[in-house]
Amino acid sequence: MEIKEMLYEGKAKQVFATENPDIVMVHYKDDATAFNGLKKGTITGKGVINNRVTNFMMKKLEAAGIPTHFVEELNDRDTLVKKVSIVPLEVIIRNISAGSFAKRFGVEEGIVFENPTIEYSYKNDDLGDPMINTAQALALKLATPEEIETIRTMAFKVNDIMKAFFQEVGVDLVDFKLEFGRLSDGTIVLADEISPDTCRFWDSKTHEKLDKDRFRRDLGGVEDAYEEMRRRIFGA
Ligand code: TMP
Repeated sequence: MEIKEMLYEGKAKQVFATENPDIVMVHYKDDATAFNGLKKGTITGKGVINNRVTNFMMKKLEAAGIPTHFVEELNDRDTLVKKVSIVPLEVIIRNISAGSFAKRFGVEEGIVFENPTIEYSYKNDDLGDPMINTAQALALKLATPEEIETIRTMAFKVNDIMKAFFQEVGVDLVDFKLEFGRLSDGTIVLADEISPDTCRFWDSKTHEKLDKDRFRRDLGGVEDAYEEMRRRIFGA
C-alpha cells in the first residue's frame, strides 16, 4: 500500500493518506503531552508500545463483536485503519475513582464503584475539552440520539471485555477514554487508541501506577511503566 501525504498531526500520532481513499495510516510518536499540551515531553519507546497495545485490544474487541477501525499493523509504529470522521466526544468510563473525578467530587482515589460511570468531554482543544452531557451534545449536534446510544452501549461493553482481560494479567482497569468515528456509510466504529496514554492501569496487588499518570504527575519510572504493561500483555 502506497503511503501518501500527512493529513493530520496530533499530540501523539500522525495520520497519512494512502492510495485507498477509505484507509489511512496512523504513525505513533514518542511525544507526550498533558494538561491540554501545557506539559510536553518524550516517553522513549512509547509509540511502539502504544501501537502494539492498541492493535491487540482492537483485535480482541473486534472478536467480541465491537466494530473498530483497525485494518492491519504494518510495523512497530505504523498501522492501517479505516478512515473515519471522529465524533467530537471523548467517552470516559470509570471503575475506580481517580484523576479529574476524584478532584471534581472531592473524594480520594481508589474508591471501587459498584457500577461503572460514563461521562463525555467535548473534543475541542481551544476550549480544553470541557465536560459535556448528552443533552448538550445533542443540542450542539455533535452526534444523533441513535449514535449516542450506540456509543454508550459499546463503551460499557468495551469496559466489560477490557476489565476482565486486564484482571487476568494482574492489572486493575481504573478508567479510560475512548473515541468513536463514522465510516463513510455512517456506521459507528471504535477508533483512536487504547493504551497506557488513554487508560489508568494499577497493579492489582501493589496499586502501583502503570500508565501516563507517571508522566502527568512527575512520578518517575515512566518508560518502565509502559514496558511493564507491554510485558503483562505480551509476556517477556
Ligand atoms: P481524567 O481523570 O483526567 O478525566 O482522565 C480519565 C481517563 O481519560 C484517564 O484514563 C486518562 C484518559 N485521558 C485521555 O486519554 N486523554 C485526555 O486528554 C485526558 C484528560 C484523559
